[in-house]
Amino acid sequence: MITASAPGKVILFGEHAVVFGTKALGTAIDLRAWASIEEAPGRLEVETSNLMLADFSLDLITGNIKSKGALNFFRYVSAVLVEFKAKDLRVKLRSEIPQAAGLGSSAAIVVATLAALNKYMGLGLDRLEIASSAHWIEKTVQKGLGSPMDTALSTFGGYQLVSHEVLPIDLPEMELVVGHTEKQHDTRSEVQKVQNLRSIYPDIVDPIFQAIGAISARAIPLLKEKRLRELGQMMNFNHGLLEAAGVSTRELSELVYAARSPGGALGAKLTGAGGGGCMIALPPEGGSSAILTAIAQAKGRAFKVKTGCEGVRLES
Ligand code: PMV
Repeated sequence: MITASAPGKVILFGEHAVVFGTKALGTAIDLRAWASIEEAPGRLEVETSNLMLADFSLDLITGNIKSKGALNFFRYVSAVLVEFKAKDLRVKLRSEIPQAAGLGSSAAIVVATLAALNKYMGLGLDRLEIASSAHWIEKTVQKGLGSPMDTALSTFGGYQLVSHEVLPIDLPEMELVVGHTEKQHDTRSEVQKVQNLRSIYPDIVDPIFQAIGAISARAIPLLKEKRLRELGQMMNFNHGLLEAAGVSTRELSELVYAARSPGGALGAKLTGAGGGGCMIALPPEGGSSAILTAIAQAKGRAFKVKTGCEGVRLES
């Protein structure tokens, strides 16, 4: 059996504005997805088994589905299997990354499956080819949507700066708190919403994007030098501008303000497309327990993540 794993991600700065060409900064986190491939003569099957992905199994040859829980994953994984003409095998998936929450779960599944298949079938793909195939597959399944950020972070790990291209950037590890609203989000409809707003009010929305781009640029040296207080301020600015662009929700903003309670986060913002999903908070040096409690009290699911984590890897 061949197993590969790949990380999820958070966007630290610049979501939405990046769609219009300004910079965004994302980082791989220490939540991962695993894909294992084993021989299964005459079969082509995908199975999932854990809490994050509802249990299901699917036989691509007979079309036999045993549970309807995680069809989303089936679409991505079967696109990988079809693209590389896989046969006589079974893919087993496991993930600790919440789905449809802006944490890069589909990219991690695609990248881990590609890396395992690469080894199993001897495809000879290097990391760059895994990242670009994964991006292509995400775009195909999502019908044209999907920036290369998620698949690049899942493949290469660390931090990636995205504008017209995706470039790795060397920044130190940090700890963040993630607050999940437990509401799934839909990236496509949030991007569409912002686009509509911009077509009606370009003179207002374009300066919002420019300011977000300026925040992303300023944040990089602050993160490099671990000037956390100022970095937190950049997160707060960024959240305010995303609210102005209409992609926050009452639940997201409640978690953001709860995290910023006295003794809590140095800064907090929604992460990803918004409309549900997650927010992130930057803890002070002293730790994150006050933030975890505040988010839980505001009815969010709170957990700590590390940033700058390792990209795709084969597991022994
Ligand atoms: O899909 P998410 O929640 O990770 O966020 C996508 C980020 C956007 O900037 C809103 C869209 C994009 O393609 O960059």
